[in-house]
Amino acid sequence: MTMQTLARDTAGIASGRPARTYLMCPPTHFDVAYAINTWMDPATPVDRDRAMAEWERLRATYVALGHTVHLLEPRADLPDMVFAANGATVVGGMVMGARFRHPERARETDAHRDWFEDHGYRRYTAPTHVNEGEGDYVYAYRAIVAGHGFRTDPRAHNELHDAFGLPVVSVALVDPRFYHLDTALCVIDSFTAAYYPGAFDEDGLLKLKTLFPELIEATERDALAFGLNAVSDGRHVVIPHDATDLRDRLTERGYDVMPVEMTELRKAGGGPKCCTLELRP
Ligand code: ARG
Repeated sequence: MTMQTLARDTAGIASGRPARTYLMCPPTHFDVAYAINTWMDPATPVDRDRAMAEWERLRATYVALGHTVHLLEPRADLPDMVFAANGATVVGGMVMGARFRHPERARETDAHRDWFEDHGYRRYTAPTHVNEGEGDYVYAYRAIVAGHGFRTDPRAHNELHDAFGLPVVSVALVDPRFYHLDTALCVIDSFTAAYYPGAFDEDGLLKLKTLFPELIEATERDALAFGLNAVSDGRHVVIPHDATDLRDRLTERGYDVMPVEMTELRKAGGGPKCCTLELRP
């Protein structure tokens, strides 16, 4: 271990924020070539250079925070592959593979599985039912909150529980603009989450209130700016720059807010979290 890594790790532990490890995939072949959510319109042009610059900025932000970023090789026939969070769920070094609802994304599963195989992950569970990885599975330390309604099949939630042995809290998503759970719920630390109430039914709202002692309510405007598609290491929150109210709420509570711009990936219905698969050791 170099002195630099040692200093970084020590700083992380002192702040209660151990360094994180993420898997990302560059938007080399990013495009809105089909429409599988209400945000996508293949008639709207995407600026791929800008998408790449925004994504590079996101990656650089993680690296500057002392986190490690691994890269997945992009594939030309998979324009949504930049959304690496959907390809698997990783907890305790164990991998639950994804199974996509739409055939357009189905082969992303293999790209992820190959990566895990090549990188020494020996415990990979292939799913029986549809689940879109961290798109619908939000890790909350004591439990995993699991969404269903648009993408992930609720029957997959049992497989998730069997794979990781953690309690799984199932919540229904009811607003098609927030088709993945990670567009409506963001875990900030082990006590705190931010959420958009309009994306959930009564039962889901009750479950979230029971699970998190601190809940920050996001406005519809900030939710539509993908403010809840943020990535937190427990202290820093990387969040779309135009989710201004939510940024203020987080700053007031003492978190370091790191704004990023994500204009192009939003055209496919994604933000920072969608691009970031956390590899939890
Ligand atoms: N176009 C992609 C889809 O509809 C976007 C995925 C965004 N990912 C996420 N984790 N919410 O599947």
